[in-house]
Amino acid sequence: MRTEQPSTGTEKATRAKATYDRIAGVYYTPAHPTSNAFDKTIGNYLRKKSSIAGRLGVHLDVGCGRSKLSEIPYLGTAVFIDLSLRMLLQSELDESKDAVVGSALHLPIANDSIETVYSFIGDAFACKEFFQEAFRVLKTKGAILEILPTKVWAETLRKELGISSDTTYFLDNGVKLFAPSIVFSGEDLVNILRKVGFSSVGWENLFLPDDFHEVPKHIEIPSKILGVDPYDLPLLVAVRAIK
Ligand SMILES: C[S@@+](CC[C@H](N)C(=O)[O-])C[C@H]1O[C@@H](n2cnc3c(N)ncnc32)[C@H](O)[C@@H]1O
Repeated sequence: MRTEQPSTGTEKATRAKATYDRIAGVYYTPAHPTSNAFDKTIGNYLRKKSSIAGRLGVHLDVGCGRSKLSEIPYLGTAVFIDLSLRMLLQSELDESKDAVVGSALHLPIANDSIETVYSFIGDAFACKEFFQEAFRVLKTKGAILEILPTKVWAETLRKELGISSDTTYFLDNGVKLFAPSIVFSGEDLVNILRKVGFSSVGWENLFLPDDFHEVPKHIEIPSKILGVDPYDLPLLVAVRAIK
């Protein structure tokens, strides 16, 4: 069985790739109820923020998996990037989209060429190097939208599960497959993005939608520990900023 806590960036990426390759076929099934809860929470947010992708240009989804860009009426073209080919293949691909196997930490994209960078649940690579790469590839006035699990949700759950605060795991036939998972509060994210050079940085917490009825165990556990209703627990944090 694999152990947790890879240390270097390369080890983290190798661990993430191995885990996501292995769970790709079941990531978007009821076998992964917390991921499903994240999906529904993000879908709910994107429906309310349809102006996000209003500008014509190239829109980049990093760590795309089954890309959520189809839920946004973006103008122009889309580029999907994922380190795991098997996760990338969960996206609906056609000739209007470019799909690239590549790392968020070394984006194979020219400087100043992208209108909007999106990253949905890119906690495996949410480090300063990724935000620097996002800044590099964005055009001036281009935007980033990053949605990550909240620190309060992740740290409360992981403490209870006895795993480190920057690690998550997925169950695959009873085997724990670990992946790096870097989490932040909204304030932390604002500070990092400002340091990288972004301006107009704003954030908000996202909550489980009221019409999501089966609260997954990994949301129920931290809610109980914190003494809050699962629908009032900040589950995800969305941060938007401009280059
Ligand atoms: C939690 S999944 C989210 C997928 C998708 N964005 C979604 O919201 O459904 C994280 C994704 O990031 C990818 N990933 C992990 N590390 C990466 C890296 N260093 N560079 C690019 N993609 C990475 C994984 O393969 C996986 O598809």
